[in-house]
Amino acid sequence: MNIQDKVIIITGASSGIGQATAKKLARDGAKVALAARRKDRLDELKKDIEEAGGTAIAVEVDVTKRDDIKKLVQETSSAFGPCDVLVNNAGIMPLSYMKNMHVDEWLKMVDVNVNGVLHCLAETLPDMVERKSGHIVNISSVAGREVSPGGAVYSGTKFAVRAISDGLRQELSPKHNIRVTCIEPGAVETELTDSITDEELMEDFKSSMGELDFLDSEDIANAIHYAVCEPNGVHINELQVRPTSQG
Ligand SMILES: NC(=O)c1ccc[n+]([C@@H]2O[C@H](COP(=O)([O-])OP(=O)(O)OC[C@H]3O[C@@H](n4cnc5c(N)ncnc54)[C@H](OP(=O)(O)O)[C@@H]3O)[C@@H](O)[C@H]2O)c1
Repeated sequence: MNIQDKVIIITGASSGIGQATAKKLARDGAKVALAARRKDRLDELKKDIEEAGGTAIAVEVDVTKRDDIKKLVQETSSAFGPCDVLVNNAGIMPLSYMKNMHVDEWLKMVDVNVNGVLHCLAETLPDMVERKSGHIVNISSVAGREVSPGGAVYSGTKFAVRAISDGLRQELSPKHNIRVTCIEPGAVETELTDSITDEELMEDFKSSMGELDFLDSEDIANAIHYAVCEPNGVHINELQVRPTSQG
């Protein structure tokens, strides 16, 4: 299945999509490095994976800190060997109306969702280029294709992730044999909305989401699994996955 013993780093593995992806990939024989800030959650997940017969390490990481990412890549390499697949999944979504001036949240979103992705790329790409082998999976969003009120900055970060993915693909795939996949989920039931503090936005957000049947994290884990498991010569560039009830 092109996944046995692959070394896969997953950021944002302490909950939601990252957690489900780690379980799914480890179940099929990948060696997974779990990264996020909540180490207790990562330790619990590592235990679950090992009890199911899989292999994992847990590394406490803030993706906005380059030194943390250096440590993550070093620990992964010492435990399992060089990184074959990077799943750039860590992200936050404190949606707000621009007029309400949640400036710190705007900047934090850029730092986690964009700079976090860049730090991880900076620490893994040189080795992939040298080995002429690797796979980058970036998690954008349908919000990386369309903007809605309250989502200006979040969408900005996810448009950026999609642009970075496309640029990476053009530069790295034919010349360096590195695959790049951009995953664009619709609405998924996770902890992502917990960071919303704009009460005016939250009221509107709740009523706009009212009729939606959210996806489960496992639905997105399946899409990531599909892209990773395809043979090396097959390059899945983009996948949008929405609930059927989402327009
Ligand atoms: N849920 C959706 O509807 C949806 C739709 C489209 C795209 N997405 C994208 O999917 C990705 C995963 O989100 P999710 O829905 O699974 O939400 P989630 O359950 O809140 O997971 C977010 C993950 O990111 C980690 N994270 C946040 N800030 C971090 C930091 N500074 N350093 C390291 N890790 C950090 C969190 O871990 P710690 O707090 O432990 O650090 C957590 O593991 C995000 O990029 C999100 O934008 C989600």
